[in-house]
This record gives sequence, C-alpha cells and structure tokens, in this order.
Amino acid sequence: MPSTTWWWVDGCEYLGRLAFRHRLTEHLREVGGHIGYDVRPSARRQGHATAMLAAALPRVRELGVALALITCDVDNIASRRVIESAGGRFEDQRGGKLRFWVATGEQ
Ligand SMILES: CC(C)(COP(=O)(O)OP(=O)(O)OC[C@H]1O[C@@H](n2cnc3c(N)ncnc32)[C@H](O)[C@@H]1OP(=O)(O)O)[C@@H](O)C(=O)NCCC(=O)NCCS
Repeated sequence: MPSTTWWWVDGCEYLGRLAFRHRLTEHLREVGGHIGYDVRPSARRQGHATAMLAAALPRVRELGVALALITCDVDNIASRRVIESAGGRFEDQRGGKLRFWVATGEQ
C-alpha cells in the first residue's frame, strides 16, 4: 500500500512519527485504518501525538482523503484521547479495535 511517513522532531531530536496509508484495503478498513503513530517513550504525555495528528490532517487532505479512518486498541486510552481531540467520530468496535472517522478539513 502506498504510504507516507512524517517524523515529528524538535531540531535534531526525534520525537515521533505518523504514517498515512493512501488507500484502505479490506483489512485496513476493518482494523488498521489510514493513520498510525507513535511517540518515543521519553517524550510521551507532552501533547506531541495530539499536535502531530493535528499537523498531519491537512497534509492527508492534500493527498486526497477527506475522511480518515483511525483505529486503536480498546484499552489504549492515550490513543483514543488523541483521536477524539482531532474530532474523531466513533463508528464501532471490531476485533478489539475501536474505529473512528476523522475529518481532515471542512466537510
Ligand atoms: C498513544 C501515544 C501515541 C500517545 O502519545 P502522547 O504524545 O503521549 O499523547 P499526548 O501527550 O498527545 O496525550 C493525549 C491524551 O492522552 C492522555 N494520555 C497520554 N498518555 C496516557 C496514559 N499512559 N494513560 C492515560 N492517558 C494518557 C493525555 O493526558 C492526553 O489527554 P487529554 O487530551 O485529555 O489532555 C503514545 O502513548 C504511544 O506512542 N504509544 C505506543 C504506540 C501506540 O499506541 N500508538 C497508537 C496506535 S493506535
């Protein structure tokens, strides 16, 4: 699947990364979603994931996706908060994953 990965950095310091899959396969539509991210352990709980996703959404829109599917494990409270802060609308739970749709710009 074509994908784009952006690094989130502070000068030369790597903080995290966000990967965007340009299209959904059947499997990605079920559980994987368009977007995945992680923040290095020493930089967590400082708002980086929330800021990283907000910064990525306009770029995702430029790449042609108006509504992005983002999923997280049912017990991943931090990721759920990140998705909700980006305006994610909960659709359902499938296979231990919560599925949210996030608008990447004005609808
Ligand atoms: C999930 C992850 C990306 C969050 O990164 P982060 O930079 O720490 O997130 P933020 O600082 O932006 O915090 C987002 C929210 O989650 C909360 N949060 C962060 N870590 C938390 C934790 N361990 N437990 C409970 N809440 C947590 C924050 O308080 C914040 O809440 P708020 O919006 O109410 O203020 C990071 O924990 C990570 O890389 N985890 C491993 C990989 C992963 O799970 N990726 C997501 C896959 S779907």
